[in-house]
Amino acid sequence: MIDVEQRHQTVANVIPQRLLSAHGGSACFIEQLCITCAPEAARLWGIYMTALAHPWLRQADLARIAGQVGTPAFVYSEAQFRKNLGRVRDAAAAAGLGDRVELYIPFFPNSNPHVLAPLKEMDGVGVLVQLPSEYRLLREFGFEKFIVSPGHVSDDEIAFWDRTGNPTFLASLDEVAYSLRTEAPTISVRIDSLDSGKPGIKFGELDQLASLLEEYDRDLEGLEVYCGSGNSLEDMVGIVEQVFSIYLKYFPTARSINFAGGHGFDYDAWDESEKHFDWQEYFARIADSAKRMNIPQDVKLLFEPARDVLADTGVLLLSVERSLITTPVSNILVTDGCRMLMPSAQLRDRNHNVLFLDSSMQVIRSETTTSAAVRGRTILRNDYILPREVAVPDGTGADSHMVILDVGAYCATQHMEFLNVPPAAEVLVAADGVIQLISTPGDERDKWRNLLTEKQSLDGLSAAA
Ligand SMILES: Cc1ncc(COP(=O)(O)O)c(C=O)c1O
Repeated sequence: MIDVEQRHQTVANVIPQRLLSAHGGSACFIEQLCITCAPEAARLWGIYMTALAHPWLRQADLARIAGQVGTPAFVYSEAQFRKNLGRVRDAAAAAGLGDRVELYIPFFPNSNPHVLAPLKEMDGVGVLVQLPSEYRLLREFGFEKFIVSPGHVSDDEIAFWDRTGNPTFLASLDEVAYSLRTEAPTISVRIDSLDSGKPGIKFGELDQLASLLEEYDRDLEGLEVYCGSGNSLEDMVGIVEQVFSIYLKYFPTARSINFAGGHGFDYDAWDESEKHFDWQEYFARIADSAKRMNIPQDVKLLFEPARDVLADTGVLLLSVERSLITTPVSNILVTDGCRMLMPSAQLRDRNHNVLFLDSSMQVIRSETTTSAAVRGRTILRNDYILPREVAVPDGTGADSHMVILDVGAYCATQHMEFLNVPPAAEVLVAADGVIQLISTPGDERDKWRNLLTEKQSLDGLSAAA
């Protein structure tokens, strides 16, 4: 045996000093671990920190949610969403861009209007939509500030957006030509800065676009450029400068420049401060560039962050259905989830951090863990909810729950119907702690909600819109 001091030092070698000092030196479970458990202690410390780093999750009554709503359930936090938006806005203000920056949160990564409700009352904040159905729904829910990035669409759909009067970022010369011919109230374009497969007017078409606008004697209201997921902050600033150059050379009368999304979120990090995009640095660099390049003060700067403001506002609560199954091939954790509830984990190879909770919904902190694959509840070979194995603490069993963290973006809205698994419930924890159901779970017949009992002749149908 080694003494506590020695253990603590060993642990200190594997746990970042920053975390240890945050602990404040009081006795903790880590000090009870033997020397061989030190690496595991680091992981458990990570879990402990994560629970602390998600104060909203600690306060959310998960037992009540599981009892009243059942599992699987997506649980979202209004407080965390507000906090994330506040962080971006504060960073803009700190860089002197407070009155120039507008945020438009995309609706497709989290399509629950109750979750996005705080946007309705914030200045300089709106929603990015791409489909008329999204727009109509959000209007019914009282949203008023929109921009539209529709991808490639028909003339009819462009006419629809023109009637709404919202800035609509058109993605090809042909679509712009239609808007010019029909005297659209406002014209904005989307430029594909990366010459990628994303919809957008290509760099090589900018001369043509400028001539087209000149021919109709029209100015652009705004230009949108997606700066690209996976780019370093340095690369993103490089793209910002490229966009400023485009603005100056081709569209110097435009009223706004929209840098879209692509602001990274680190799904592997445990600590809140490490997960999020460095808006402080980013805005400071943009402010610098804008000043150096003489971008007029009254040109608005728009951003469309999704992951950064939404990811850590949500968790997926699952039930563990039985003790670990151990076979000569693998260890399997059986849950009532399914990869179809959040296919983005597999599709984007995001493992997501997880917590295990005991029957009283306390984090299970065991000194020993077993690496296991997280199984969904269907027969298909690849119904694993996460792309890689997770460390399951001893004591996890049929009365436990599993919480998959950071699923507030691109998860519930990506639910797929394949495998006949109904969508999970969605629950919102309001800033004052009140818990409300915001989407009912699909019932067991959800997959067949449009199935006709009797086959129907086409004759009696009104023509499709
Ligand atoms: C036009 C547009 N805006 C915003 C986003 C949101 O991006 P992110 O999740 O990287 O913030 C996307 C994502 O694909 C996008 O295509």
